[in-house]
Amino acid sequence: MSLKVIILAAGQGTRMKSELPKVMHRVCNKPMLEHVINNTNIDNSEAIVVIGHKSEFIKEYFADSVNYAYQTEQLGTGHAVMMANDHITDNDEVLIICGDTPLIEKDILEKMYALKKNNFQAVVMTSDIENPTGYGRIVKDGEKFVKIVEEKDSNESQKHIKEINAGTYIIDGKLLRKELKNLSTENSQNEYYLTDVLENIAKDHNVCTFKVDSESILGVNSRLQLSQAERIMRKRINEKLMSEGVTIINPECTYIDKEVIIEKDCIIYPNCNILGETKIGKNTVIRENTTIENSTIGEDTVIKSSTIIEAKVGNNTTVGPYAYLRPKTDIGNNCKVGDFVEFKNAKFGDGSKASHLSYIGDAEVGKNVNVGCGVVFVNYDGKKKYKTLIKDNAFIGSNSNLVAPVIVEENAFVAAGSTITGDVPENSLAVARARQVNKTDWNSNK
Ligand code: UD1
Ligand code: CA
Repeated sequence: MSLKVIILAAGQGTRMKSELPKVMHRVCNKPMLEHVINNTNIDNSEAIVVIGHKSEFIKEYFADSVNYAYQTEQLGTGHAVMMANDHITDNDEVLIICGDTPLIEKDILEKMYALKKNNFQAVVMTSDIENPTGYGRIVKDGEKFVKIVEEKDSNESQKHIKEINAGTYIIDGKLLRKELKNLSTENSQNEYYLTDVLENIAKDHNVCTFKVDSESILGVNSRLQLSQAERIMRKRINEKLMSEGVTIINPECTYIDKEVIIEKDCIIYPNCNILGETKIGKNTVIRENTTIENSTIGEDTVIKSSTIIEAKVGNNTTVGPYAYLRPKTDIGNNCKVGDFVEFKNAKFGDGSKASHLSYIGDAEVGKNVNVGCGVVFVNYDGKKKYKTLIKDNAFIGSNSNLVAPVIVEENAFVAAGSTITGDVPENSLAVARARQVNKTDWNSNK
């Protein structure tokens, strides 16, 4: 038996009032559908996403990482699953879930799958909620699952049932395929209800419910619910990190993506965004208003109010305030990158410093180099970019321009205010500026 996952994502999501399909709206920086695909990736499962409305957005993003089934007309959840019928066999087990429920985590689904293996032909995820309006209600005979009644088809006493259908099921492929053929549209909405499959299976087979907390089953239908999902997921991420030994001063204002790794004894100040495949080593402090995306930061480092994108920063280094480290920046250990310093595609060796107001682009800087205040690595002539090489222990005086391609050799000095257009040999001083002239009494003779 193998596990197939059918993700329902063909609906329009009218209430989002958006040009984007609903499932492409982001929660913690990732489309909801991506969370669902990741959460359902259990036991080597294979995902089939049922798409319809604005499917091109979904296909462009996920490309061939999943299978697609097409539902051109949205005739109900049962109809959506019928569209994926060719992807499942009688030997499969089928997990069916909605693309707008990003909070049903993998561990919940794994438990549900384990329960299914306990000699059940189908498992229905449910939850007890205070206000069940709008959801399908779980009708039971004692403890035994009987059927699901949609709000619009329910009678007065069924409306009072607080156990609702979360819209997530695991069903034997053979029974699912058989019962899909028996679905009809005889209900108040004239739709093919997937829920009727469960009622029919329950007549002759073991169907059980699997109750989860009400937070996890939140389905996103509006921008308000999108913000609620965001808050819940962010809270879970931050609480997990805190439980692992990270200090987060104000979790309400700290935005960390799910896959971020932060080692213990780090301190994260408010208003930071730590995104994507980012890793931060132990004892590092991320001060307020920092954004770090897809980057690796070392241990015992301090980052103050800076933006770091696809870059690397070593150990025991300080960055900022207001530094901008752009892609392919690689800052070594024991470095100082000060205020208003921008790096791009540049390596900065251990112990080097650029303390104020510099642009360092397309460069390789050795160890223990001092880049003075206001130094510009002039890497672009309007057509092409060129590289600057600065060897170990060089000193670049303040307000110098290094016009690439150029090499400054080991232990060389560049005098302040120089515009360097030729290589500087080792141990020498390059002065490339006009000599000062003092015109005596110029002002009094004017
Ligand atoms: C469904 C359930 C209801 C449950 C609720 C949980 C049925 C009949 N009812 O109701 O018992 O409490 O989910 O949220 O199944 N979709 C398609 N194609 C369609 C119809 C829907 O892909 O033709 C997708 C939607 O994009 C959405 C999901 O299926 O992701 C659920 O559809 P929705 O219309 O929200 O179902 P409900 O009527 O709310
Ligand atoms: Ca719904």
